[in-house]
Amino acid sequence: MFKKSLISTLVVAGAASLGHAQAADLTISCGAVGAELQLCQQGVRAWEEQTGHSVDVVSTPNSSTERLSLYQQILSANSTDIDIMQIDVVWPGLLANHLLDLREVLGDDAGEGHFSAIIENNTIDGRLVAMPWFTDAGVLYYRADLLEQYGHEAPETWEELTEIAREIQNAEREAGNDRMHGFVFQGRAYEGLTCNALEWVASHGGGTIVDADGEVTIGNSEAAAALDLAASWIGDISPSGVLNYTEEEARGVFQGGNAVFMRNWPYAWALAQSEGSEVRGKVGVTQLPHSGEGSSAATLGGWNLAVSRYSENAELAAELVAFLAGEQEQKRRAIEGAYNPTLESLYQDDEVLAAVPFFGELYDTFVNAVARPSAPTGDAYGRVSNAFFSATHDVLSGNKSGEEAVSDLDRELTRLKRRNW
Ligand code: GLC
Repeated sequence: MFKKSLISTLVVAGAASLGHAQAADLTISCGAVGAELQLCQQGVRAWEEQTGHSVDVVSTPNSSTERLSLYQQILSANSTDIDIMQIDVVWPGLLANHLLDLREVLGDDAGEGHFSAIIENNTIDGRLVAMPWFTDAGVLYYRADLLEQYGHEAPETWEELTEIAREIQNAEREAGNDRMHGFVFQGRAYEGLTCNALEWVASHGGGTIVDADGEVTIGNSEAAAALDLAASWIGDISPSGVLNYTEEEARGVFQGGNAVFMRNWPYAWALAQSEGSEVRGKVGVTQLPHSGEGSSAATLGGWNLAVSRYSENAELAAELVAFLAGEQEQKRRAIEGAYNPTLESLYQDDEVLAAVPFFGELYDTFVNAVARPSAPTGDAYGRVSNAFFSATHDVLSGNKSGEEAVSDLDRELTRLKRRNW
């Protein structure tokens, strides 16, 4: 049966589900990377206590790319198995037809107080298909202790990062710390590489793959130079294993004390600073570097909660979504897990700023984050991103030069555009 085959790929993660002899009132799929699952479970439990309803929490693959294909299978089969899904900021256009308009249940002011760009992003053909759960932007983590020891400031350009990373890595290795690496990031061929590579390209002045009007722009020399520079890191300041790293592998290396720099999302802050972390108290966070004429670029990420149109309990599901996206939960997740609020007022909250100082210091980075081209490419976004991360991975692996890769990709996307957007 359908239910068995798909549900077996999901992990029933909720302690809440144990002990319910009967089916729960709702099933939510949330949590993957870092502390997301735990924070989701805690929020769900608080709602259960408040309302008396029962909810199963199921988790899904860590990789955003794998998660998307699983959700597409579930939704295109009109399955009633999952009422609420955690959806990526780049998915509303891809999934909108399968999702409930939350304004129907939560009212026209459902999005009030949230960053308007995210509400706009989640509104497809006038329908609010998801509520913002948290926002994300790429940041640069560095070992403040090592930079100080070797007499460096945090780098402003990619060239500076490369040099500082190499110097400290090699000196540390000579001092017997032979597992030290200069820079770790997300280099596996998946959505996370699209996010990293968009930052490299945009911060070299090479654009955003496809521009806001839907024109393919990737075939340019700045984009080629950005990919070539990244390829030069492999085997120098970055381990070749980085070609298979997602967020969590990169965090593992950095948190274990074995990297000078890391590109990651804000969630890694709370874990790096947690008890038992090798780097607790030694970490700085700043904006990502740039090169040449470009300026620092952070890819906009983030996750939203959506209700499936096939839910048999859609109204109740929307109420749980409103609770989980509400102020109390956003504040708790910001303080405990460094998940960026989408409610503007929480960026002035003293407790939030004390727990995560860079939410204040890097506020501009968060509000000016660069969107992946999901809006202009609509339901072709998945293919656009796949083409971009595959081309990037080819360059990182040494199979193509930056120039070859961006000109092939330009042709491929131009062909795709003719048929799709
Ligand atoms: C983070 C971001 C998400 C992005 C993913 C890629 O989870 O919030 O938007 O797609 O990383 O790995």
